[in-house]
Amino acid sequence: MMKALRFSLLQFLLSVYFFSFCPVNLAMNIEQDPLIKTMEDFSGYAIHEPQLSESLSSSLSVDTQNLQKQIDELSTFSDTSAPSVTRILYSEKDVMSRRYIKNIMEASGLSVREDAVGNIFGQWSGYEPELSPVSTGSHTDAIPYSGKYDGVVGVLGAIEAINVLKRSGFKPKRSLEVIMFASEEPTRFGISCLGSRLLAGSEELVQQLKKTVDSENVAFFDAAKSAGYKNAEDLSSVFLKNGSYSGFVELHIEQGPILEEEGISIGVVTAIAAPASIKVEFEGNGGHAGAVLMPQRNDAGLAAAELALAVEKHVLESGSVDTVGTVGILELHPGAINSIPSKSHLEIDTRDIDEERRNSVVDKIYQSALSISKRRGVKLSQFNIVNKDPPALSDELIIKAAESASRELNLTYKKMISRAYHDSLFMARITPMGMIFIPCYKGYSHKPEEYSSITDIANGVKVLALTLAKLSIS
Ligand code: GLV
Ligand code: MN
Ligand code: MN
Repeated sequence: MMKALRFSLLQFLLSVYFFSFCPVNLAMNIEQDPLIKTMEDFSGYAIHEPQLSESLSSSLSVDTQNLQKQIDELSTFSDTSAPSVTRILYSEKDVMSRRYIKNIMEASGLSVREDAVGNIFGQWSGYEPELSPVSTGSHTDAIPYSGKYDGVVGVLGAIEAINVLKRSGFKPKRSLEVIMFASEEPTRFGISCLGSRLLAGSEELVQQLKKTVDSENVAFFDAAKSAGYKNAEDLSSVFLKNGSYSGFVELHIEQGPILEEEGISIGVVTAIAAPASIKVEFEGNGGHAGAVLMPQRNDAGLAAAELALAVEKHVLESGSVDTVGTVGILELHPGAINSIPSKSHLEIDTRDIDEERRNSVVDKIYQSALSISKRRGVKLSQFNIVNKDPPALSDELIIKAAESASRELNLTYKKMISRAYHDSLFMARITPMGMIFIPCYKGYSHKPEEYSSITDIANGVKVLALTLAKLSIS
């Protein structure tokens, strides 16, 4: 009774205070006011649930000109000429792009830190900085001859989302953090999502990196050191504890045609397909292309060709359009027209939204590699499953936040799965995860024709900003 009385008196005083002094157009949480905080502490009651102001969505405005300029500038840090982009981990161009991103983070008022392998973090402190932050981000490394939007939209777009919120007058309760992950692409060391895998605490990867070299035989640690990461060997310092973030949201181009074909502005990702990658080597005797007769040959190149076709066969046998397989690397040694290949090297990528079905494809590929090697008299000198990652599900609350953000911004959206993998796949191991997709021209990606319009990018940035705002007050 006494408690109820005290509560209503307090509510009355607060309403007088609230309606007299609080600005109406800001996204606020009255806990931030010291007077209210004292009253709350005194009464033992939460006076209000934190809420976003209804006008926040209409006050979000993206600096499209500047964002496009940044995307274009970043694309010039490339080892191949425009319109293609090639930016490989720890290369000179990668180091330049890191500096560029850090400068932009600093100019946006974020406090910047970098970990031992070069994951870069830029934080906007919330007014309750002891709470776990909400994070967002993506990557800026680019596979050979790719485009300028993959990953980049989720890094520059995330920094712009924070600027958008700052300009609107919003103040986050939880800190907001932008992450630029090191090496989402497996190009240099054959390991995808290297930075986010480590953040998620992969001991297996720590062991693997100790013996990892690139195609030029440069050790991972030497490459990292040459890019300025002198403490790269301290890999466990990169690990983040489960719960270090209260959530993670990644903005990304769809890399598929659905949103554009259906004329939908936003994809809200519900799950990320499960990728596996395999390295295979066959060895034969080689020899002279004219002198060694066909019955005497054990051609490592033909073994590789046969295995590539077997990959296609096993993938199609699954009977599902969701199962895919690619042989993206096929190298023959010594690589001369008049020499029978004595060695062959293949790298196989296979994915599915169903982990078991994907694993059964991996098993079948192994059985085929064994039988091909036996039949052709070549040695199967390597069958290395580099990774066999489980799929990840998006968090329901983050899905809902992105959906309501899209609705409040009057943008059409649909739920969809991601067939490409992303750093989000690994962030999901340590924090609730979600992804926001935007359309890209004909679904093109991993090639120079990759393109998203600045209008679509700005829509994605706004949905990201509003989603982060919602998550930051929860
Ligand atoms: C990411 O780049 C992927 O290959 O899905
Ligand atoms: Mn990519
Ligand atoms: Mn990407």
